[in-house]
Amino acid sequence: MYRTNTCGELRLADAGKKVTLAGWVQRARKMGGMTFVDVRDRYGITQVVFNVENDAALCEAASHLGREYVVQVTGTVAERTSKNPNLPTGDIEIIADSLNILNASCVPPFTIEDDTDGGDDLRMKFRYLDLRRAPVRRNLELRHKMTMEVRRYLDSKGFLEIETPMLVGSTPEGARDFVVPSRMNQGQFYALPQSPQTLKQLLMVSGMDRYFQIVKCFRDEDLRADRQPEFTQIDCEMSFVDQDDVINLFEGMAVHLFKELRGVDLPVPFPRMPWADAMKYYGSDKPDLRFDMRFVELMDVLKGYGFSVFDNAAYIGGICAKGAASYTRKQIDALTDYVKRPQIGAKGMVYARVEADGNVKSSVDKFYSQETLQKLREAMDAQPGDLILILSGDDIMKTRKQLCELRLEMGRQLGLRDKNKFACLWVVDFPMFEWSDEEQRLMAMHHPFTHPKDEDIPMLDTDPAAVRADAYDMVVNGVEVGGGSIRIHDSALQSKMFEILGFTPEKAQEQFGFLMNAFTYGAPPHGGLAYGLDRWVSLFAGLDSIRDCIAFPKNNSGRDVMLDAPAPLDAKQLDELSIAIMPQPEK
Ligand code: AMO
Repeated sequence: MYRTNTCGELRLADAGKKVTLAGWVQRARKMGGMTFVDVRDRYGITQVVFNVENDAALCEAASHLGREYVVQVTGTVAERTSKNPNLPTGDIEIIADSLNILNASCVPPFTIEDDTDGGDDLRMKFRYLDLRRAPVRRNLELRHKMTMEVRRYLDSKGFLEIETPMLVGSTPEGARDFVVPSRMNQGQFYALPQSPQTLKQLLMVSGMDRYFQIVKCFRDEDLRADRQPEFTQIDCEMSFVDQDDVINLFEGMAVHLFKELRGVDLPVPFPRMPWADAMKYYGSDKPDLRFDMRFVELMDVLKGYGFSVFDNAAYIGGICAKGAASYTRKQIDALTDYVKRPQIGAKGMVYARVEADGNVKSSVDKFYSQETLQKLREAMDAQPGDLILILSGDDIMKTRKQLCELRLEMGRQLGLRDKNKFACLWVVDFPMFEWSDEEQRLMAMHHPFTHPKDEDIPMLDTDPAAVRADAYDMVVNGVEVGGGSIRIHDSALQSKMFEILGFTPEKAQEQFGFLMNAFTYGAPPHGGLAYGLDRWVSLFAGLDSIRDCIAFPKNNSGRDVMLDAPAPLDAKQLDELSIAIMPQPEK
């Protein structure tokens, strides 16, 4: 037996017991006639003491243990004289009488402590060592607990967990695919699934009724803190449901997860906000509702006074930052620089302070009388001590997005985005289509299988851009943690959708014939949703990036720096696949 106990479980009540522990040496230090060794495993750290009076050679050997050596120690549990209140095992120590070095270790490239000295790249390269650190390990433990709770919840609601293939066909909609060449079908490629969307719909045609899968998805898209090229969905589909049924069931799951994993009782039902309102009031389809600071449109209030920037703008919007009138000129200049950064792209920012006496002082005072500025104050519902920030532009959506960035930054600066506060909401009534400048055609905003709102179906022929969908996203603290829709189950309507998306009937048949054909064999009404598991875990763990809750993540360039992937294939492998690599043009 390698061990009788873990390094996290012994307490004062165990004093006097003879135990054997196995783990890694966190640190060894010699003090006078004693050597103290902290032994660590997944469960915690226990202090082991080697006393020169008991066994001088053993005490000396222990003092030479290097960091991360794997050891087995046997000894007796004893009460500590100087207790460590920061450790669960801090009341006891093991008085060792034997030491067995199970394996030596090279000096690790960074310290395996909660606060490590290793930079991001180094920790990624040696991720197996990074995973020994408690904060990273805790994220994986949370991830495990979450998947267990998800399975428990969905099982209790009658869902079946069904696996779908990883080698599927490439689809033209959505993000770019990762493709896999087939040796047995030369010149042909599989794609890794961006999601099991069509397969779960086929499972509904099969009568499976309630399906779920905790499943890897692959998307070749630009990476951000909340995006990885391979990520995990909690993917679900249900038959004989409408939008409310799906929303209620998955709101229930969110409530269950918050209760079980965070001990938080969420108020239900979650608010539901039409997409158009989310854009109008927050400039985003995933508003962070931990704080309000909603947009106020100011075209009526501020146009026509000779300030050409506003007079020529299609959109003028303001936010009111409560209590921020104390912002200095320097702070306001920094905010202006912030919104002028190329990633945000605003041309400038106007501000107005509401002073203690109620007077409004603005950066464009010369164009506006106090009377007009008071109208501004009224429109913004601003009180003495508040700061009004205004952006304008000739593209409504673009300007709203800029104002959204400003709102989020102000929320951050004013401490309104507390990681321990949670604001959940459903964004509903998404547009069915969005215009793609790149493709010069309408694209499905969610995906081409989404059902249009019944009352909007007549507009498919007359004004498709105005058609809304039975699609919904769940947003928590400004993060899209899931999304889904009611699906089309009628092959004629599905064909029409492909037509609007610019597919010829032949192309639609070639790409999605399997689905449209299936729909001719009695497809039930169905709908579903997928939650992003990585985003849920990072939300619960308060992480800034989903990378930190993934055992072996990719870096921002999509590389696994530990495995050094992707990498070139050798000539033999390429030959077998009949693949030739084109020389890359010089950049
Ligand atoms: P969607 O594309 O909205 O819907 O994805 C569902 C959820 O998956 C998460 N997610 C991601 N997480 C990390 N990295 C990524 N690159 C990434 N992309 C998406 C998000 C998102 O809300 N088949 C549909 C679902 C359905 O209609 O049932 C789908 O994939 O949290």
